[in-house]
Amino acid sequence: MPPTILPPDKKPARACGLRRAIFWSLLAATFAVVIGLAIGLGVGLGVKHNNKDKKASLTAAKSSDYYIGGAIDPAYYSRDGAFNGSGLALASQSFGSGEYGELVLYFQHYSGSIRWQRLTPDNGWLGGTASEVVATDAKNSTPLSAVAYSLNGVSKWHLFYIDNSNRLREKINSNSTNIWIEGPLTGENHTVMDADQVGMQACWYGNDYGDADYKHSPLPNQGNSTANTTGSGTDVGMHLWYASDASTFQQLGWRNGDSNWTYQQGWQNKNGHAGLGCYSWGPGTTTYVMMVNSQNTVEVWWKDTNTNTSTSTGHPINQWTNSSVAINNVHPSTSLGYTNAFYAQGKDGWITGYNIDWASENTTINGSFPVNKPGILGTHLSVTTLPDQSGGDSLCVFYQTNGSDVTFATRDLVQGAWTAATLEVPNS
Ligand SMILES: *[C@@H]1O[C@H](CO)[C@@H](O)[C@H](O)[C@H]1NC(C)=O
Ligand SMILES: *[C@@H]1O[C@H](CO)[C@@H](O)[C@H](O)[C@H]1NC(C)=O
Ligand SMILES: *[C@@H]1O[C@H](CO)[C@@H](O)[C@H](O)[C@H]1NC(C)=O
Ligand SMILES: *[C@@H]1O[C@H](CO)[C@@H](O)[C@H](O)[C@H]1NC(C)=O
Ligand SMILES: *[C@@H]1O[C@H](CO)[C@@H](O)[C@H](O)[C@H]1NC(C)=O
Ligand SMILES: *[C@@H]1O[C@H](CO)[C@@H](O)[C@H](O)[C@H]1NC(C)=O
Ligand SMILES: *[C@@H]1O[C@H](CO)[C@@H](O)[C@H](O)[C@H]1NC(C)=O
Ligand SMILES: *[C@@H]1O[C@H](CO)[C@@H](O)[C@H](O)[C@H]1NC(C)=O
Ligand SMILES: *[C@@H]1O[C@H](CO)[C@@H](O)[C@H](O)[C@H]1NC(C)=O
Ligand SMILES: *[C@@H]1O[C@H](CO)[C@@H](O)[C@H](O)[C@H]1NC(C)=O
Ligand SMILES: *[C@@H]1O[C@H](CO)[C@@H](O)[C@H](O)[C@H]1NC(C)=O
Repeated sequence: MPPTILPPDKKPARACGLRRAIFWSLLAATFAVVIGLAIGLGVGLGVKHNNKDKKASLTAAKSSDYYIGGAIDPAYYSRDGAFNGSGLALASQSFGSGEYGELVLYFQHYSGSIRWQRLTPDNGWLGGTASEVVATDAKNSTPLSAVAYSLNGVSKWHLFYIDNSNRLREKINSNSTNIWIEGPLTGENHTVMDADQVGMQACWYGNDYGDADYKHSPLPNQGNSTANTTGSGTDVGMHLWYASDASTFQQLGWRNGDSNWTYQQGWQNKNGHAGLGCYSWGPGTTTYVMMVNSQNTVEVWWKDTNTNTSTSTGHPINQWTNSSVAINNVHPSTSLGYTNAFYAQGKDGWITGYNIDWASENTTINGSFPVNKPGILGTHLSVTTLPDQSGGDSLCVFYQTNGSDVTFATRDLVQGAWTAATLEVPNS
């Protein structure tokens, strides 16, 4: 049956669960508060463009393939709003008593600091001011990655970024402390490729982000938002991948309870400037990772950790195996993201969502769709699925369309037109 596409004006416009009118009035309110604050404080924060001036004379030769924003031309540094080339990461935090978590967006402010805004239970985006700063030592256009989970009655969230000496950094917070502390990764001196556009992604693995009572967005092939742990492994933890040079990713692992991260393996012939995607929180024992190879083709690799079954030629156990899925000719600095749909940016700036049928060696792409309108080339993107007011779910894609913005585009989970709005990012 072909999907019925309702004209946009026949559906109430929603933005990540928000009715438009409510949303805009909340933005206006937030904006008013911010102006008040800015006047109160009197002074703005200095703009940080570290180490880039010496490179400015080289810009004529730079294509946007591996650069973004002010690294191409200093005129492109944002003068307000978000950093041009901001990392973007989403986390559902503060899970409590079976409720949906609050959605938190991490981004880089034009001043260079890493900040957050949250979608409150009463449906407004709040924060992003100097009071919501997580880090001030991030490199320009650092990728950001956030992982949130809930175990043994405590919700925790980890934020990963790259500092201005190209070291990996981990900050951890929880709903029992509400204080950011350095995670073990910070002290481990992992050096990331020195480049403007560089891939880094952390992924939770194990079933459903922890406790089984956590309600989440619907999993692929399961029309139910309650965790189903049947047939799943019991290990929970994180994987983290980062580019150590232009063609190599390093993979680290951390298991819940570990005091440090452990080196796992290197991945060769990959595009280290591109992002990375993963799907490792569904039912079953197979984990997936998506990377862009040196020919700018997206590859989907899978690994089944179920040691109860025996290895066969088509289905090895405990070994990363390439599927036959290929998405050719993506943008060389594309960011990748997965929640219900898999997203990648093409060379024309358009972000495409792909529906994927996950089945280890039989994984296939079943249909694709364009997202809203094109982003700046090499924009970071972060995606999620949220419940909406009509009882259904909506796809949400956060990305940048002009460089000083954070745009979020949303569409019904299975069909329909996109609507979009921009987050109000305070200037001070
Ligand atoms: C951000 O940088 C891009 C190039 O990466 C440029 O096309 C765009 O105009 C810049 N945006 C602003 C607000 O300067
Ligand atoms: C933290 O989150 C957990 C998991 O949802 C919840 O059980 C607990 O009550 C929360 N703790 C606080 C102090 O809010
Ligand atoms: C971290 O690594 C860099 C280069 O790999 C090295 O020069 C530096 O000494 C190391 N620092 C520590 C504290 O291990
Ligand atoms: C979802 O599945 C759980 C069992 O895993 C069941 O108890 C619950 O009623 C289901 N909810 C819906 C809405 O189908
Ligand atoms: C839970 O998942 C298993 C395997 O994926 C499936 O067989 C079972 O029907 C599911 N249970 C529920 C309540 O959805
Ligand atoms: C593997 O077998 C053990 C022992 O029978 C069982 O406890 C475990 O749940 C099984 N794991 C999976 C993923 O089926
Ligand atoms: C890292 O953790 C592992 C497992 O928890 C442990 O065996 C190892 O000794 C630790 N390494 C360091 C340097 O602390
Ligand atoms: C992985 O599979 C895809 C699809 O067949 C292919 O394009 C790509 O070259 C493969 N990569 C490797 C390293 O085998
Ligand atoms: C993949 O397809 C083959 C052939 O149809 C089948 O034998 C195998 O069980 C499938 N594997 C998975 C994990 O679905
Ligand atoms: C592909 O997706 C359509 C819905 O968009 C679904 O009806 C169909 O069964 C899917 N095909 C496969 C092989 O999963
Ligand atoms: C970029 O978009 C934001 C949000 O829509 C807008 O406020 C700003 O004026 C735009 N900047 C440019 C240079 O177009």
